[in-house]
Amino acid sequence: MQPSSQNEPVGQAFLPAGADRNVRPTSEAALAERLERGELVAYAPCPFALPNADERAFLYQQKLRTSKKNIAFNPKSGRLTGFQVQSTQRAARLNSILADFSQNATTWLAGALPRYASCWRPDRATYRPEEEATRKLRLTARNDLLHIDAFPSRPSGGWRILRLYVNIHPTASRVWATSETFGKLFEQYGVAAGLPHAFTEGWTVRLQEGLLRLFQPAKSNRSDYDRFMLRFHHFLKTSDHFQERAPRKLWHFAPGTAWLAFTDALSHADLRGRYALEHSFFISPDALSHPEIAPAAILQKACGMPVLPSAA
Ligand SMILES: [Fe+2]
Repeated sequence: MQPSSQNEPVGQAFLPAGADRNVRPTSEAALAERLERGELVAYAPCPFALPNADERAFLYQQKLRTSKKNIAFNPKSGRLTGFQVQSTQRAARLNSILADFSQNATTWLAGALPRYASCWRPDRATYRPEEEATRKLRLTARNDLLHIDAFPSRPSGGWRILRLYVNIHPTASRVWATSETFGKLFEQYGVAAGLPHAFTEGWTVRLQEGLLRLFQPAKSNRSDYDRFMLRFHHFLKTSDHFQERAPRKLWHFAPGTAWLAFTDALSHADLRGRYALEHSFFISPDALSHPEIAPAAILQKACGMPVLPSAA
């Protein structure tokens, strides 16, 4: 592995074949540019403090609560969910470790991308204890199929989804594949996935949303954009054509490596590995260097109709 400073992306050891090994952004603008154009940017070692050895050993013992996909920490409420409670004391320790991770990750990222941080909405921090290669999940929830991200329970409203991951496995790499970005995928599969349309997004969907709002307020208020992104997420995961024929870059993230990407645009699959930490951030369109290549802008241009409420 090449040595790297605490604030520079990692060198060639983690880049897939064919990637540009010479591009090393040192400024906020260059980093934002790469991310918004759909690159994945890796850092080794992780440029902020991670749980110490005792804390990591404690994390390795944690188990998911049945039916939960991840252990999730909400930085806004301080609440932790998705884990099997062994005792009040152990639950408090787990909460504290994830709260520290959330704080450290957020502080570092705010330093690297202050323009984004000036108006972002930090989302959940998650801990992923399960082996991705063998876990049993329903098809549209699987992480090992190529997809772009759209959160079913937390519509973004046109804000971008920036995610920061860290492999904390003691010895094994985490293996990812990445493929095309939203623009190309949309060109190829957007129509087949079902574009927003004045009729199809009309009264039937709004009736369903109205009923949903009565029983699950958090899942309501999906814009046309959010409905499309969720549909596209499901379409890509269930498309044999895409899964079998999409070009792939393979990434091997060694223990202690962190990586960043706009996962609402860069298609990706989590192929192998367990014990990872992750933090998501919603980035305002107002903070982007290139709002014109954001998925919402591409969708809106193609549809010729607004896909977000005018205030978004
Ligand atoms: Fe994903």
